[in-house]
Amino acid sequence: MHRIRTIAGHVVDFQEPAGYRLTPMPTAALSGISGSIAVITGGAQGIGLQIAQHLGQLGAQLCLVDMNGPVLEKAAATLAKNGMKAKGYQCDVTSESSVAQCFKSIIDDNKKVDILVQAAGITGKTNVKTHEVELDNFEHVFKINSTGVFLCARAVLPSMIKQNYGRIVNIASVSGKEGNAGMLAYSSSKAAVIGQTKVMGKEYAETGITINCVAPAVVQTAMVDAMPPEQVKYMTDKIPMKRTCLPEEVANLVCFIASKEASFTTAFCFDVTGGRSTY
Ligand SMILES: NC(=O)c1ccc[n+]([C@@H]2O[C@H](COP(=O)([O-])OP(=O)(O)OC[C@H]3O[C@@H](n4cnc5c(N)ncnc54)[C@H](O)[C@@H]3O)[C@@H](O)[C@H]2O)c1
Repeated sequence: MHRIRTIAGHVVDFQEPAGYRLTPMPTAALSGISGSIAVITGGAQGIGLQIAQHLGQLGAQLCLVDMNGPVLEKAAATLAKNGMKAKGYQCDVTSESSVAQCFKSIIDDNKKVDILVQAAGITGKTNVKTHEVELDNFEHVFKINSTGVFLCARAVLPSMIKQNYGRIVNIASVSGKEGNAGMLAYSSSKAAVIGQTKVMGKEYAETGITINCVAPAVVQTAMVDAMPPEQVKYMTDKIPMKRTCLPEEVANLVCFIASKEASFTTAFCFDVTGGRSTY
């Protein structure tokens, strides 16, 4: 029995189906993570922090990248207290100079990057129809969710090309495939993340670098807590499993994609939607 929060913050007891596990994948099953240098944007909290924790438990050395300095420092300290190697790098992923400086520091500190997970993102204003969307908000969401993904990938690729190996995993969203009404900026920015992943994956397909994305449905994090309950209900009602996703479930999938075992998949969008996605 696992206790989870579902739509609008309700706490429910979730009975795992037989064979279900919420712990990280067994270390022995995945190679290429232990001893790797893993950068996680949006790593200060939520899905990014959960992914960092999973990768750290599998032996990766963690570089958490986030613009929220105090939360970032707390996250790095907590991971370190739990025996993981973790350091925070404050950075605004929308700023070309901030990203360049941040990745220079990471490479100066570690000499290379093996894994980049891009989880920094915002929803912007939600529950608004297209005629009510403000240009500022639309552009702001795109800068973080889409431009940020481009800037960080561009910053890390030279190091991966040099070693003929790398794993980039972008956190997109099912809204980028299907479009959530009331979320024009968010849905279209996540469609752009899927598009970038397809382009980049093909461009580097003949190197040892794979570039994929993951499209989760609703994951119960601070981002979702901050959304209007009617918007969260609209999204959760579309999930055949009739519950929100756990951050651990996204992290398990990301660990597999970031491992050496995921060697013949690139430019792909992985599903983690409880049955919502139809393609
Ligand atoms: N929670 C969900 O239901 C859900 C579903 C699908 C996809 N996603 C995606 O997963 C990712 C993580 O979401 P979450 O729910 O953990 O959100 P969250 O709000 O808990 O965490 C997002 C993190 O990104 C950081 N961030 C925001 N703007 C930044 C910037 N300009 N530069 C650097 N860091 C910045 C924040 O400080 C925060 O730590 C996002 O890309 C989100 O779009 C979330």
